[in-house]
Amino acid sequence: MDVNIRSPIRGSRGSRGLALSTGVLGVFFLVVGCQGEHPQSMLHPAGEAAARIAWLWWVLFGICSAVFIIVMALTGIALVRPRSEQPTAPLGNRFITVSGIFIPAVILVFLLVASVSVQVSLQSPQTNSSVRVIGHQYWWEVHYPEWGIVTANEMIIPVGEAVRLELTSADVIHSFWVPNLHGKMDMLPERTNMFWISADRPGVFRGQCAEYCGKQHAKMAFEVVALPPEEYQAWVKRNAEQSRQPAQDEHPQGRSVFDTACRQCHAVGTATSESKPLGPDLTLIGSRRTLGAATIPNNRENLEAWIRDPQQFKPGNKMPHTNLAPDDLRALLDYLQSLK
Ligand code: CUA
Repeated sequence: MDVNIRSPIRGSRGSRGLALSTGVLGVFFLVVGCQGEHPQSMLHPAGEAAARIAWLWWVLFGICSAVFIIVMALTGIALVRPRSEQPTAPLGNRFITVSGIFIPAVILVFLLVASVSVQVSLQSPQTNSSVRVIGHQYWWEVHYPEWGIVTANEMIIPVGEAVRLELTSADVIHSFWVPNLHGKMDMLPERTNMFWISADRPGVFRGQCAEYCGKQHAKMAFEVVALPPEEYQAWVKRNAEQSRQPAQDEHPQGRSVFDTACRQCHAVGTATSESKPLGPDLTLIGSRRTLGAATIPNNRENLEAWIRDPQQFKPGNKMPHTNLAPDDLRALLDYLQSLK
């Protein structure tokens, strides 16, 4: 029995409208998505490793899009062609062998070779720079063992030089990810994973924890600031001194408030790789761009609001409310802002 089912696709105004609006929306998002700066985008690589990963992404995207378009076009043709025009054995068995087995096998082997060769090329290059990063709920502890610098939620790196990273965690599993500079790497408790990043131009690149680690996982971010080599050396010199001997004599009242109210959890100039701080090191707090692990910009107003009630910005973080007298709070703010 020959049942001639008319295709619901042919001539359907609704489906043409749907296809058109999907296309327009697609172009809109493509255009909007390509505007502005891209501090957190693997499609805008700023480093060697990220560039290779982006290349692989475009290869996969191109090939998969081509396959999708061809398969959809053939499906469309099969659906709209009147039954009477269809030959009894359409294109024969060879079509099925070639397009169903041979071509997919060639594509899959090519993609496998491309993925594996990119993976192999991501091995860490030789480098002298090394940074240790420890994940915490919900912030990042950053050590420069060579210089004795400790900071948090911000990493300064030199442009044009690979930086080796030692990644670990103080509590649960986190994942280190700066999309513009490299892929992801897990940070596991009691284990150190070696990783690396490099930046080929100066800039600020945003990192984000990429492994669900608790209530404020989404606000566990940080920034990598890539500086030209001379500026980086100046930063190292200045901050190595600051870490050894923080400027504190100008604000004795603020420092004493800090010692009473903050020092149980935060260090200034005394942290080592062995210490286990509860909260971010504040040695360089005055020079950091953000507060609360890239949650809010670092300025006096936000710092004050954060100290009063950190939970309003990041509910579930481990810092409690503080109830300081206005005078003490002012002195503390002066002291903290001077730490740079
Ligand atoms: Cu740390 Cu998600």
